[in-house]
Amino acid sequence: MPGQTVRARIGKKKKNYAEGRVVEILSQSQYYIPPECPHFGICGGCHWQDISYGHQLHWKRNHVIECLSHIAGVSEADVQPIVASPEQFHYRNKMEFTFSAKRWLLPDELEGSFDREELFALGLHVRGFFDKVFNIGGCLLESPAAAALMKKVRELAKASGLPAYSIRNHDGFWRFLVVRETKRTGQMLVHLITSANPNAESAVDSLSRRLAADFPEISTFIHSTSDSKSQVAAGNSSRVLFGPGFIEEKLGERTFRISANSFFQTNSLAAELLYDTVKEFAGFEGTEDVWDLYCGTGSIGIHVASLVKKVTGIEIVADAINDAYENCRLNNVRNCSFLAGDLKDMIKMAAEAGRPDVVIADPPRAGMHPKVVKTLLDVAPKRIIAVSCNPASLARDAALLLDSYEIKAIRPFDLFPQTPHVECVMMLDRKT
Ligand SMILES: C[S@@+](CC[C@H](N)C(=O)[O-])C[C@H]1O[C@@H](n2cnc3c(N)ncnc32)[C@H](O)[C@@H]1O
Repeated sequence: MPGQTVRARIGKKKKNYAEGRVVEILSQSQYYIPPECPHFGICGGCHWQDISYGHQLHWKRNHVIECLSHIAGVSEADVQPIVASPEQFHYRNKMEFTFSAKRWLLPDELEGSFDREELFALGLHVRGFFDKVFNIGGCLLESPAAAALMKKVRELAKASGLPAYSIRNHDGFWRFLVVRETKRTGQMLVHLITSANPNAESAVDSLSRRLAADFPEISTFIHSTSDSKSQVAAGNSSRVLFGPGFIEEKLGERTFRISANSFFQTNSLAAELLYDTVKEFAGFEGTEDVWDLYCGTGSIGIHVASLVKKVTGIEIVADAINDAYENCRLNNVRNCSFLAGDLKDMIKMAAEAGRPDVVIADPPRAGMHPKVVKTLLDVAPKRIIAVSCNPASLARDAALLLDSYEIKAIRPFDLFPQTPHVECVMMLDRKT
């Protein structure tokens, strides 16, 4: 933390920087505050919780400025004040929990009288270890209802007698629990992912009935099965045990459908502010053809649809595209169309159909594929609005555009309080 003096062990040494791990804090920073979560330091979720919120915002904006300067070579960009999250805790609308057959023991569990044979876990990963899971009591980023639900699922799954999945042996049944909830409409989606085992389906059915009785706020329950060896909380096949199989959230005036596997911004209230900035930066006049790249369930495109001539969204997840069309129907939006597929291939198809006036691009953390950036340079929209959750890949992509585009403004957003992550909206204008 800035202001701390620490003893650190250097792990990686490069020409102009080194990476190290803190061994001991010798003197504390003036920005330090005692963290509220009892799992702080063990869990990888929010390790900035010990920095006061005002300073978290300060260092996030600084990180954006540094990335632009070091990676894009831009030192005079207009990096505006960072927009704070409306909620500093309990802001997440999605939590993913992992089952484990061999749980990580917390210091107090090791000290107490503990049955070492009893290692069933449902919780979060220990920081830095993809294969170690500890039993959390609750998480300050989720709602109290989601925390209570997670504990109940742990209790019921353990009582079923079926084993948790083992990442080492690739056997066992219970794999992941994903809880999604809306902030404006009070709906909750439970997605349970297990190994495929038809004989064990009745255990999931009975768990879902018990859960529905205790948590009336659950609007839908989905069971998916996965045989994948990778630790990804998604399934190959799904069945809806009750409810419609999706939930609906309101952002501003618009309603959005969220299914088990589609992307939706995790901080709904801050996302509203982000989308309003996209609108503001785009400065639409009503005549524009707009591309919404990496569109997910179409939320940004649908947000701006009434201000433009037409929107073309492109997204790799087919379920998200289905949701995007449903979202258009829900909101009575008729000027959006969507293409499903990998953007690096689909963008050429979109370019053959016509050139956009404005492009909105909201890629995942890795940023845009170089072929996507190249096509943007070819089709040369007058304005590009780049939305990004990773200032480093944003700066790298912006650098590739700078011969033809000028950065007009950047507004950072805190979508992820208590973590080092920062989101940005950047406005780039064509030079001629
Ligand atoms: C940061 S999300 C943005 C979603 C959307 N704009 C929103 O605000 O809800 C990035 C999206 O890119 C999609 N994606 C990832 N890789 C992709 C690719 N190669 N081609 C097209 N879409 C991709 C993801 O599925 C995800 O929906």
